[in-house]
Amino acid sequence: MSPAVPIWRVFSDRQSLIEAAAEVIRQAEAESGESFSIVLAGGQTPLALYRRLVGEPMRWEKWRVYFGDERCLAPDHPDRNTLQARLALLNQVSIASEHIFTPRVELGPAEAASRYGETLADAGKFDLVLLGLGEDGHTASLFPGHEIGLVPDAPDVLPVFDAPIPPSERISLSAHRLSRAKQVLFLVTGESKRDAVKRWRKGEQIPAAKISAEKSLVVLADRDACPD
Ligand code: 6PG
Repeated sequence: MSPAVPIWRVFSDRQSLIEAAAEVIRQAEAESGESFSIVLAGGQTPLALYRRLVGEPMRWEKWRVYFGDERCLAPDHPDRNTLQARLALLNQVSIASEHIFTPRVELGPAEAASRYGETLADAGKFDLVLLGLGEDGHTASLFPGHEIGLVPDAPDVLPVFDAPIPPSERISLSAHRLSRAKQVLFLVTGESKRDAVKRWRKGEQIPAAKISAEKSLVVLADRDACPD
């Protein structure tokens, strides 16, 4: 049964938050079977975590890496979530390139979403999904007022043509696919997230609040984002 209400853990400093997130990943990896499937989040917040994981004695050969969303930009554009994750983590550790599943967003949202959907068809349930929270309550590239793919027969991957935050063209795993996970872990930092956090905790149905998980749904937030 999916937990409807996340467990919130609030940290007074970001380093402790990053350490806690690294510990969740270590445990999820240890509890996984022959492979460990992880969905990486975009945005700035997780980059410190990714850098922190370099040098950890992880079983990298088990890792199967997917991306929760991507911006439709050239492969070497600095705002590509996948490029940022590569620079911070994936290029620094020994994960085989065929175990890193990068959406081909240079083909445009429709084609990229369709192809990434085919890739995900073989992925099964994720062991761990990492997500962030946007100031407007979005997560991955699931924006308020847009289709977020919550119903069970929603496609695994949605093309996004009119994101309110640039770039307007993106792809995103649907809310239903992100929730097909043993664990979901949100990382939320900074004062700019305060309003979205307040709305989420009050029970407003922002996109982030629609994500669930089979075993645990945890939000790690810092005091700036969650002062009370
Ligand atoms: C993106 C995202 C997005 C992000 C949040 C938080 O590609 O924009 O995946 O959902 O995670 O906006 O971003 P920050 O960590 O940069 O605040």
